[in-house]
Amino acid sequence: MKKLYLFGNLKMNLNKTELTTYFEKLKQVAEHSLNVVGVALPVIYLPLASQLLQDSRVLYGAQNMFYEDSGAYTGETSALMLKDYNATFVLVGHSERRNIFLESDTMVNKKVHQALKHGLMPIVCVGETLSQKEQGQTKDVVKLQLHEALQGVTKEQLNTIIIAYEPVWAIGTGKSATSTDAKELITYIKQVVSAMFSVKNSDDIIVLYGGSLNENNASELLNMPNIDGGLIGGASLKVESFEKIIYTKV
Ligand code: PGA
Repeated sequence: MKKLYLFGNLKMNLNKTELTTYFEKLKQVAEHSLNVVGVALPVIYLPLASQLLQDSRVLYGAQNMFYEDSGAYTGETSALMLKDYNATFVLVGHSERRNIFLESDTMVNKKVHQALKHGLMPIVCVGETLSQKEQGQTKDVVKLQLHEALQGVTKEQLNTIIIAYEPVWAIGTGKSATSTDAKELITYIKQVVSAMFSVKNSDDIIVLYGGSLNENNASELLNMPNIDGGLIGGASLKVESFEKIIYTKV
């Protein structure tokens, strides 16, 4: 039986009252699972998480952060601020950050280094757009994103990084990648990263699938070899559907 890594990404959803109930329920769910369960929060709710999720099996982290320790960066949050509330991970390079907020590969790389410097686990998101897929560029795009994002990272640091393969066209569309395609790309990602760092066993590299992963397709996707878990947006907003994914039999 493989241990799965299941991270919810709440994006800009749920309010304080809703989250309070959410945390209480998710704590119980995680108690009854051997899988790693985490939730990426709007930073303003990290203090609430640090109160309510302390001593629980639920990991919590942020959806973004800035790559400097401090300074004149209006509206940004530093890794140190996330650490103040005991966040353990941060999403880096989510496609919504890349596309809406114009984050470049260089910024993604700086954020990866900043997270590692402060002991936060980066969950690095990569994935192709629909037009890139249609032009047969998926592997090239993903390879380039990986090379840029992980530039300057040491082999040792690689152990504390998770990669999420999220085809952009599958995010929030209800149209996930097929399990075969997701497996193929994730296998490719493991090969690329293994080659970059001379890793002997590519199974040591944790790669998640994300993009319309839900309670109906979780079993098929998560049972695929090489898919180590999921990054789940829409279906993580209700504990009831997230729970079904967390309890997927593999
Ligand atoms: P989705 O989002 O599950 O709603 O497609 C996934 C993500 O953006 O990480």
